[in-house]
Amino acid sequence: MFRIRMAVLGSGKGSNFRAILAAIQKGGLPAEVVAVASDHPGAGILELASKSGIETLRIHETKFKTRLSPEVESTLAGDLLARRVDLVVLAGYMRVLKAPMLDAFPRRIVNIHPSLLPAFKGLEAWRQAIDAGVTESGCTVHLVDSGVDSGEILGRERVPVLPDDTPATLHARIQEAEHRLFPRVLAEFTGKLTAES
Ligand code: GRF
Repeated sequence: MFRIRMAVLGSGKGSNFRAILAAIQKGGLPAEVVAVASDHPGAGILELASKSGIETLRIHETKFKTRLSPEVESTLAGDLLARRVDLVVLAGYMRVLKAPMLDAFPRRIVNIHPSLLPAFKGLEAWRQAIDAGVTESGCTVHLVDSGVDSGEILGRERVPVLPDDTPATLHARIQEAEHRLFPRVLAEFTGKLTAES
């Protein structure tokens, strides 16, 4: 069976990556994770990848915090193309991607964001939801374009915001939803890519 070759980029603990791996192992997502890249040397996502026998790539950025230098981003794009990556999955990757990656993988980069986009773009979206006093939030999987959390929406899942929620309790509820939504949307999207190829 044809399996989409995925690369996963993340800066954090990697709970979404764990959910993606679980879906692949259960047969619900016909994909193979061929590399995991991170800009944080001690990130849990790298440890999880190593334990799972997946190649890890370190992104060495020293100049910028919210994006990559063009040469660093070009190296990353080249490394992923060399591994014949079909789809780049951002699972808690905390920098904005620019032309080197966007041009190398047009409509082939997918992100998960912890709000019901287009509401609450940017950082700590769960805290933005609490501060705004909304009664419902959730998570969104979307294609990545040159804006911030602005690409085409592929799927969303809603969760309630409860009266006694703190940013931490809401974030935990949103993450549970992320772990259901992300593998499901990736399965749909990879199905479309396979049908197109
Ligand atoms: C998730 O909440 C995701 O929405 C945001 O970063 C977090 C990553 O968490 N972009 P994890 O590393 O997958 O646990």
